[in-house]
Amino acid sequence: MNYRASKENLLNKTSDCLCLPLFKDGTLCSQGKQVDEQLSQSVSKLIEKFKISGEIGKTTLLPIDADKTQRVLLLGLGEADKLNKASFRKAAKALASALKETNIQELGLDLSNIKLSDSPHSLTETTAEIILAIEESKYTFDQFKSKKTTPSPLESITFHVGNNVNEVETSIKKAQALSAGMNFTKDLGNMPGNVCTPIYLAEQSEELAKSSDKLSVKVLDEEELEKLGMGAFVSVAKGSIESGKLVVLEYKGADDANEAPHVLVGKGITFDTGGISLKPGPLMDEMKYDMCGAASVLGTLKAITQLEAKINLVCLLACAENMPSANASKPGDIVTTMSGITVEIMNTDAEGRLVLCDTLSYAEQFKPASVVDIATLTGACIVALGDAASAVMGNNDDVINALLAAGLEAGDKAWQLPLWDEYQEQIDSPFADIQNIGGKGAGSITAACFLSRFTKSYPWAHLDIAGTAWVSGGKNKGATGRPVPLLLNYLLNKAS
Ligand code: BES
Ligand code: MN
Ligand code: ZN
Repeated sequence: MNYRASKENLLNKTSDCLCLPLFKDGTLCSQGKQVDEQLSQSVSKLIEKFKISGEIGKTTLLPIDADKTQRVLLLGLGEADKLNKASFRKAAKALASALKETNIQELGLDLSNIKLSDSPHSLTETTAEIILAIEESKYTFDQFKSKKTTPSPLESITFHVGNNVNEVETSIKKAQALSAGMNFTKDLGNMPGNVCTPIYLAEQSEELAKSSDKLSVKVLDEEELEKLGMGAFVSVAKGSIESGKLVVLEYKGADDANEAPHVLVGKGITFDTGGISLKPGPLMDEMKYDMCGAASVLGTLKAITQLEAKINLVCLLACAENMPSANASKPGDIVTTMSGITVEIMNTDAEGRLVLCDTLSYAEQFKPASVVDIATLTGACIVALGDAASAVMGNNDDVINALLAAGLEAGDKAWQLPLWDEYQEQIDSPFADIQNIGGKGAGSITAACFLSRFTKSYPWAHLDIAGTAWVSGGKNKGATGRPVPLLLNYLLNKAS
C-alpha cells in the first residue's frame, strides 16, 4: 500500500474515489462542501434524495459522473461534537471494510477539518487510524491454505492535508511501522505450534536483526541456561524435545550508547499443554498463542527499528514448549532459580512465571531504566478484564502510569490491578521459599506476586495479555497484534 500526504486540493487530482465525511445531521465537512459545489451539488442532492445517514460508521458509495472522480464514498462520522478517537476508529474500520467490497484502487480524502474532542492532534491521529484500519483489513494468514485469499485491489490513499504535509508524513511512517510490527506479531501468533517452536522464534529474531545495524542478537540454548543456574526456566524446557531458548536482542538507537536501556521481556511458550498438570482438551489448540508476549516484543522491536527510534532497548524472549513427558517436572518438584530463590512447582501449568522469573533475573545485568514483561500469563485475567484491557501491575508507579497512558493514547488499553502485600502470602510454600501458584482467588495478582520476587532491583511492570492478544474461538479467531500499539507508544514516549 502506498500512502501519501498532498498539499493539493481534493479535486485537483484525478482519483478513483473520494471519501467525504458526512455528519449525522446530513452535512458535509467544509472540504466536502467545496467538492459538492464543484460537482454542481450532485452529492448533497443524493444525500437529500436518499436520506443518506451520517450515523457513525455508516458508509455509502455514490457513483458520480465527473472528470476528476468516478465515485464518492460517504463516511458517517455521527455528531460532529461527539466525535473522539474511539468513535473515529470505528468509522475508520467501517471505511476499510467498505473499501474491501469495492474495486477501488486509489482513494483521496481530506480530513483536515475533522476534530476529535479528545485529541490536540486530530489530523495526524485520524490519518494514523485510517492506515491502521486499512492495514488490519488487508491482513491475511493463508500460507497453510491451498486456496489463497484474493488481495484487495486498493493500492493507494492520498491524504489531502493542505500545509500539514510534514507532520502527516511523520504520522504515516509511524502508522506503517506500527502496522508492520502488528502484522509480524500476528503472523508469529497464528503460526501453528509445530512450526513456531523456540528455534523458530530465535531464527525470526536473527532475521529481524539483519534489518538494522543498530540491532544485535544472541541466542542462549538450554545448556547455557542450565549453566546460568536458571533452574525454573529449564524445568519447563526440559519436558520437551524442543530445546528452550533465551533470545537476547539489543537495539542501540540512543545518541549515547551507554544510556540505560529499557528492557522488554516476552513469554514465549510456543505451546502450552499444561505439562503433567495437563490442560483439558477443548480450546487447547489456542495454546499456540502462548508465545504472544514474545511475539509482541518482536513486533514492537520491528517497529522501533523501522522508525530508527532514538532509544536503547533490550528484548528478552523466554522461549520453551510446555509438554508432559518422562523428562517433565512433576507437581511438588522443587527447583532453584538463578536468583537463588527456591520454587516448589505445585502446578506445571503455571509455567509462564517459571520461564519469566529467570529471564527477569537475567535482565539485571543491563542496569535497566525500566523492565516490562509481557505474558499470556493467566486465564484469571480474562475473567477479570475480558478482551478490553491488558492487566498491568508492578513495583513502580512511573512505569505503570506510563504504560496506562501509552495504552490509552493508542486505543490499546491496560488497567491496573493491585499488587498489595496482602496477596503475597498466597505463594508461601511449606517446603521451598515460594510456590508457583496461589490460592483460589486473584490468580492474575498472585502470578504477578511471584514475578515481583525477582524484580526488586529495577523499576518493573508486568502486562498480562491473556485476554487481549488473540480472539478466541469462532470465525474471527486469531492473533490481534496487541499490545504492540501500547508498547510502541510507551517506548516512543521515552525516546529522545
Ligand atoms: N497460558 C496460560 C494462561 C492462559 C489460559 C492464557 C487461558 C489464555 C487463556 C498459563 O500458562 C496457565 O496455564 N495459567 C494457569 C495458572 C494456574 C495453573 C495457576 C491458569 O490460568 O489456569
Ligand atoms: Mn500454562
Ligand atoms: Zn502458559
